Amino acid sequence: MSSLRHRFPALAGSAGEWARFDGPSGTQVVDVAITAMTDWMTSGSTAAAGGPFAAAQECQSLLDRTRVTLGQLFGADPAGFSFGTNTTTFNMAFANAVTETLRPGDRIVGTRLDHDSNVMPWRRACARAGAEHVLADFDPATGVLSPESVIALIDDRTRWVTVPMASNLLGTMPDLPPIIEAAHAVGARVYVDAVAAAPHHRIDITALDCDALVTSPYKWYAPHSGVLWCKPELMAELGWWRVRPAPDAGPRKPETGMPNFEAIAGVDAAARFLLEEGMESLARFEADVFAHLWDGLGAIAGVRRIGPTNPVLRAPTAAFVVDGVAPSIVATRLAEQKIAVWDGHAYAVEVVHHLGLAESGGVVRAGIVRYIEHSDVDRLLAAVDAIARRG
Ligand SMILES: Cc1ncc(COP(=O)(O)O)c(C=O)c1O
Repeated sequence: MSSLRHRFPALAGSAGEWARFDGPSGTQVVDVAITAMTDWMTSGSTAAAGGPFAAAQECQSLLDRTRVTLGQLFGADPAGFSFGTNTTTFNMAFANAVTETLRPGDRIVGTRLDHDSNVMPWRRACARAGAEHVLADFDPATGVLSPESVIALIDDRTRWVTVPMASNLLGTMPDLPPIIEAAHAVGARVYVDAVAAAPHHRIDITALDCDALVTSPYKWYAPHSGVLWCKPELMAELGWWRVRPAPDAGPRKPETGMPNFEAIAGVDAAARFLLEEGMESLARFEADVFAHLWDGLGAIAGVRRIGPTNPVLRAPTAAFVVDGVAPSIVATRLAEQKIAVWDGHAYAVEVVHHLGLAESGGVVRAGIVRYIEHSDVDRLLAAVDAIARRG
């Protein structure tokens, strides 16, 4: 499978000397997205959406066509897509809107595998409504969250089940269909955080049958932004916080103020890039590079890998610790060699606590994205091996 590094202008020149394993916290932007943003901002189309003149109409058609592209990428009704700043802002707005529908004694079921943005907004919603917030545990030995552990918490008081499609720290991808089925069987709704899965695997929202799903396009080669998909009838029902003149129907209802049109132009282009490349082919490429990373880490004495062992049915994100060396020191030493990784909890606060790693500084996280290649992995493995030997 051929390299796509040349599609990422930020990796040319001296910046290209870095091995960028920081993809799970945000990827480099693909060429067509950069061009689309520049074209948008130089086109004279910058305006507010929906007015009688050409630029205002162009703003509206940008929103409409990007929803159609997203509908193709994610197998969903285009009318369900809203644009925003990032996932956390959408999670807070969503949980805020749900708060008004909760009654004392209701229950929201979440998981300990989630990024905190899919935990705290729900906890706060429950606290405000007098509802109960419970979290399903994953197995700390394997990093796997069994559907049964979530289903066991779903009862007839449950109004929402909030789940990750992939863990941003461990790469675990829970089996969501049985969870969604169990939630719907008691009349509960399901909110899916697809941020860590969307860059790596094909998502079919219609087949999944969740009620809402969030993704952050800046993790899949687009500019910084957030996208919410919500079943249109649910979107219409929920009491979003809004100012009076703002649209009270349709996908702009959850949006606040003017959308970031230039970012949306980039999102449209990046989504087309993914459609053209094909998520299945992208996943195959990444699984191959990830297997090299995962096996290589496993072969280094003094390195402990944390997370599921299956290189395919997971996000290609490796979490590991080096015996006797704090994760922050490992990350700093790697940075000295122009290898970018993150250390700590990456906002997966519950995950590091459940693993018992909160006190020792969490983990080192190295993520594979489409522009990471075997040669980058070789550099990382050699550097980690040297760190493990030196202690
Ligand atoms: C799984 C997951 N959920 C949510 C978020 C929050 O995304 P955002 O930065 O767009 O608010 C992240 C960010 O890293 C993430 O990895």
